[in-house]
Amino acid sequence: MDTDLNSEPITWVARTTRELTARTNPVQGTRQQGNHMPIHWYPGHMNKASHEMKSVLKDVDLVIELLDARLPFSSQNPTIKELSTTKPCIKVLSKSDLADPALTRDWQVHFEQEESVKTLATNLDIKHKAESVLHLCQKLSPKTLRSTRTMIAMITGIPNVGKSTLINALAGRKVAKTGNEPAITKGQQRIKINEEVTLLDTPGILWPKIHNENSGYRLAISGAIKDTAMNVEDVAFYLSGYLLKQYPESVNQLLDTKTLPNNDLALLEALGRKRGCLRRGGQVDLEKVSSVLVNEFRTGKLGRISLETPSMIPAEEAQVEQLKEEKQRRDELRKAKRKKK
Ligand code: G4P
Repeated sequence: MDTDLNSEPITWVARTTRELTARTNPVQGTRQQGNHMPIHWYPGHMNKASHEMKSVLKDVDLVIELLDARLPFSSQNPTIKELSTTKPCIKVLSKSDLADPALTRDWQVHFEQEESVKTLATNLDIKHKAESVLHLCQKLSPKTLRSTRTMIAMITGIPNVGKSTLINALAGRKVAKTGNEPAITKGQQRIKINEEVTLLDTPGILWPKIHNENSGYRLAISGAIKDTAMNVEDVAFYLSGYLLKQYPESVNQLLDTKTLPNNDLALLEALGRKRGCLRRGGQVDLEKVSSVLVNEFRTGKLGRISLETPSMIPAEEAQVEQLKEEKQRRDELRKAKRKKK
């Protein structure tokens, strides 16, 4: 018999007022403006890496940009987006074995609307990956360069996207990982692949400011943002809301039921009971079940799921612009008030 999840009592206890107020989901449109998920990292390192990237970009022939196939927009480095428009670019959609195949195809079509961009969806099939990337490098290399000198291909990607896996596959050996924190470890390294191609590896970085709040959540869900830098419960609530809306069949499978939970909290509650994430007295341990859900997403146990589609992005970008404009207006008002004093 199926359990009616919606009739089960809510047994988690919010420990702080913040928890209660934060538990509205942006995907369902109920989150209040300004109720941002705090992410703690080191903008200094990110800024340094970003500047380094800008300074070398002019000397490279081609960019290989690794994107997470589950979040191709959110895992795109804005610096690369701004600066590499004139450079040929191979967008490698890694971890496509974990992404929704139909949406991965949509993203490829979307990116390839730009003439200088070619895309490739990859998985852990290393040999196939390396051959395809090198083939595209040859195809995209500037005509003037062919057979005159080695091509320099800069390789970029956010932490954990699969950059080392790809580099090792291309080099045919294990290459020492370029540190993700340029202030601490070596910032960039050159790796000779063959007579035609040399890779310029860059640190796996995130950028100092993520303006699109949805992108922040998606990056956190994917594991690009360290778990210590975010609130896993906030992230799990976002993921739950998204799954309910976009992948209801996966939720039913996850909970082994035909009745969809009413909301994000009911989903986490039900999963908590199913996985035995309980506190003393039988209350669901929300923190524990949040980690369970996020990890099951990351390892593909929830099925092949993508967190964004090309058609979602324009509305999100418009909202970001609107918020920026509102902030600018507020700042100007504040300045004017100060001047009057
Ligand atoms: P990075 O250099 O960009 O930080 O990423 P890295 O290559 O170290 O890969 C991060 C994790 O992602 C690794 O798992 C790696 O195996 C996995 N990975 C890379 N490409 C793919 C892919 O196309 N599909 C899937 N499913 N996974 C991929 P790990 O558990 O952290 O390490 P390991 O135990 O596999 O070495």
